Amino acid sequence: MRTPTSAPRSVALFAALSALATIAAGAQGCGPASATCVTTGTPVAPPADPLGATAQCTTGKTWACLNTGANFMNPGQPCVACHTTRPGAPRWTVGGTVYASAHEPDNCLGGPATGSDPVTIVATDSTMTERTATMVPGGNFFFDTTARPPFTNIRVRYQGRERQMFSPATTGDCNSCHTSAGMNGAPGRIVLP
Ligand code: HEC
Ligand code: HEC
Repeated sequence: MRTPTSAPRSVALFAALSALATIAAGAQGCGPASATCVTTGTPVAPPADPLGATAQCTTGKTWACLNTGANFMNPGQPCVACHTTRPGAPRWTVGGTVYASAHEPDNCLGGPATGSDPVTIVATDSTMTERTATMVPGGNFFFDTTARPPFTNIRVRYQGRERQMFSPATTGDCNSCHTSAGMNGAPGRIVLP
């Protein structure tokens, strides 16, 4: 699974890769994160209607290294659930992944397919302090370990555009609701503005 394979061409293959990673979840990481932690396939054009789009892995790239520490690790998975329990994992209180469309599979790397403008994630924490994180390449973001829920005024900013979450979040585990299908009323993934 670490060996880069030829270009995956279908959503079905991405789904199969995600399923394999899920089956293997809980196993040890597979060494230091490196280029071999990513299986590179064919990127797909971002859909015209990102929220209404069917499932696709826009970047064409899939994380392939289980729980090896790297800022682009386990994209799409609930970061905080693991980071509050797993020995050795930093105690992030806010983490998640930004995607080009709403139903991207777990372990698909996110973020803009092109362009280098930073994507920022803003939220006000329990002390009414506004926190800001910058998305890393691969779509993930995380705040420092001192931000406390509930979070309000949650926004994602990119190229002068913005998407806002209107309800407060009782947890900073963004991907626990922003799953591929969407949980607890979320429309699916956190999508680029
Ligand atoms: C199933 C468990 C699990 C999930 C899910 C997970 N992580 Fe991790 N993460 C770990 C472990 C364990 C480490 C430390 C392992 C190591 O250093 O090799 C780690 C390390 C990291 C590090 C490196 C910290 C450092 O400075 O060394 C970052 C950054 C990180 N995770 C971000 C995230 C983000 C963002 C997400 C969600 C998109 C996430 N992780 C999801 C288990 C997880
Ligand atoms: C408890 C579940 C839950 C958690 C946790 C959560 N969200 Fe949401 N999110 C929702 C729901 C439900 C909506 C749609 C209704 C709304 O805007 O309040 C939403 C909407 C959004 C939107 C707007 C989507 C659009 O239509 O443009 C963004 C952006 C967003 N969330 C970002 C985040 C970020 C960033 C985090 C983590 C800090 C987060 N969410 C955590 C449930 C959640």
